[in-house]
Amino acid sequence: MDFQNKVIVITGAASGIGQVTAQAFAKEGGTVVVADINEKGGQKTVEQIKEIGGKSIFVRTNVTDYQEVEKLMAQTIDEFGRIDIAINNAGILSELTRTADTSLESWHRVMKVNADGVFYCMKAEIPHMLKQEGGIIVNTASIAGLRGLPNNVAYTASKHAVIGMTKTAAMEYAKKNIRINAICPVFTVTPLFNPDIINQVSEGLVEKLKKGIPMKRFADPIEVANTILWLCSDKATFITGMAMPVDGGLTA
Ligand code: NAI
Repeated sequence: MDFQNKVIVITGAASGIGQVTAQAFAKEGGTVVVADINEKGGQKTVEQIKEIGGKSIFVRTNVTDYQEVEKLMAQTIDEFGRIDIAINNAGILSELTRTADTSLESWHRVMKVNADGVFYCMKAEIPHMLKQEGGIIVNTASIAGLRGLPNNVAYTASKHAVIGMTKTAAMEYAKKNIRINAICPVFTVTPLFNPDIINQVSEGLVEKLKKGIPMKRFADPIEVANTILWLCSDKATFITGMAMPVDGGLTA
């Protein structure tokens, strides 16, 4: 896959899946705009990319603030002239509580980052893509966008929302040469999903979760990144509006 001369904006790229995806695009020649609220992690991603001879900048962005999201896209255009690819990936987990025990604060906090954040990004990206007559968007959903996940009502609702907006926008802009897809990873080992911490929450939970996955293991972030790169490549030119599981067979 060749991303030479492609400009890629990735939110949540200071850590985990976003960081590994940023490195993977850079290795294939892409110019990566790293967007995150975590300045230290974001700068680290940029340094890692520069170490391998890639081109990257960090733009501090809170995806829950529409003006900051608009600024991120404007700055990308100012610096590099276009937005070929956007990976709307920033996301947070909710506390583990049943539906009726979930606080309003927790519900709104999760929905704001995971659902509003992805909508704000697409709203700000698509006008630039229309102007340049093409573009590719991948939104990070989750298997929790495809099925229920007990004790995660806000997270599950937010990821279902991501898939809904992905499919709708994909249909709206299919004729405009903009492809929009979502990826749906299963548990992936990152700072957001740390097996050691999960086991502290509930002894034996890690093994129980693995058992439920036909491939009997969690995902490595590079496996999610490789799927994102493939969706953004010239190998996937007829694929749009899809919510693609990266889940070792779980949703099968
Ligand atoms: P992570 O916690 O390692 O990375 C998430 C990044 O998003 C962090 O750098 C964080 O600073 C950033 N972020 C959080 N709120 C933000 C905001 N308001 N504005 C800008 N950036 C913000 O987590 P991970 O695992 O890499 O998750 C990435 C995406 O993948 C998330 O959307 C998550 O829901 C999704 N996902 C993760 C899975 C997992 O098991 N790790 C499984 C399925 C989906």
